[in-house]
Amino acid sequence: MDKPLPTPRVRLRRLRRSAAMRSLVRETDLSADRLVLPIFVREDETISPGIASMPDVRRYTVDELRSRAPDWARLGLAAVILFGIPRKKGEDGRGAWDRSGVVPRALEALKDGAPNLLALADVCLCEYTTHGHCGVVRDGTVDNDATLDSLARAAVAYAEAGADAVAPSAMMDGQVAALRAALDDARHEDVAILAYAAKYASAFYGPFREAAGSTPRFGDRRGYQMDPPNVREALREIALDLEEGADIVMVKPALPYLDVIRAARERFDAPLGAFSVSGEFAMVKAAAAKGWLDERLAVNEVLTSIRRAGADFIVTYFAEEVARWSQHER
Ligand code: PBG
Ligand code: ZN
Repeated sequence: MDKPLPTPRVRLRRLRRSAAMRSLVRETDLSADRLVLPIFVREDETISPGIASMPDVRRYTVDELRSRAPDWARLGLAAVILFGIPRKKGEDGRGAWDRSGVVPRALEALKDGAPNLLALADVCLCEYTTHGHCGVVRDGTVDNDATLDSLARAAVAYAEAGADAVAPSAMMDGQVAALRAALDDARHEDVAILAYAAKYASAFYGPFREAAGSTPRFGDRRGYQMDPPNVREALREIALDLEEGADIVMVKPALPYLDVIRAARERFDAPLGAFSVSGEFAMVKAAAAKGWLDERLAVNEVLTSIRRAGADFIVTYFAEEVARWSQHER
C-alpha cells in the first residue's frame, strides 16, 4: 500500500448535510393530500368506541362523523373511506344495501358536515353477514355470481347517499362490471369505482375484524382473496378490473406487497392506491408503545416506502396523525 487512495471527486454526502439540502433533493413526498383515512361507523351507540388491537382508532357514531368532518376537511386529507358496523347482522347481509342503513346515513352526515370532503364507501358483505364471509354462502362456499347483485345494490345505495366513489373489496370475479352496470342504470355514471383489485388473503386484517366483528365463523377467505405468493396474478386481477371499468385500482395490504405495487405501477397507467391495513398499523403501534420504535419516524418511513414503491395514495389509519404532524411543521 504505497499509493494513497484518491480523494473522492463525487461526494454524495454534500446533499445530506442539512435538512434544507435533503429536502431540496427529496424524491418522494408524503403529504396529507396523498392519504385516505379509514373510518369505522357504528349504528349501535351502546357498543364501545375503542378497539383493543387498534389504539387511537375509534368506532364513531353517525352524529360524531358530522361534527368531526370539518376537522378532517381542514387537515387536507385526500379522502375518507367508510366501513359500517350495523346493529344487526343477517344471513344474506342485507344490511349492506339498506338505504337507511349505517353507511348511507354516515355518508349524509359527512356531506352535511363537510360538503367538500371526498367520501368513499367500502362495498362488501362481511360486516353484515352472520357468518362473516364477504358474499352469499351456498352449500358451505361463497357463491360468486349470487353475490354480485347484493354488492351492486349496496353500491347504488351508497351512491344515492352521496358517495364520491365506491370501493368493492369482496374479491368476487366480475364485481367491478356488476357495480358499473348498476350505477349507470341508476344514473350514477359520475360515481367512480375504486377497485380493491389485488387483495390478498392476509394475516394483517386481524385488528380490522375485531373492529368490525367480521371474522368468518367457519373456514377462511383463501377461496376468494389472493394467494400471497403470487404477483403475476395480481397484474391479471388489475387488468381485468380496468377492463370492467375500474377508475382506480388498489393493492392490499401494502407493506408486505411493495413489489406488487411496483409491478402494478410499471405495467398500468391508471391511478394506483395502496391500503396499509389494520395489522400494519397495529404492528407499529405495539412496538412504539413498548418503546421499541420511534412511532413518528417509523410511520413516516413505512408510508414513504409505499409511496416510493409507486402508490399515488395510501389508505392508512395513520392519516390523521401524519396530517397533524405536517401541520405543526409549517
Ligand atoms: C372487507 C374489508 C376488509 C378490509 C377492508 N375491507 C377485511 C377483510 O377482508 O377481512 C381490511 C382492512 C384492514 O385490515 O385494515 N372485505
Ligand atoms: Zn369482506
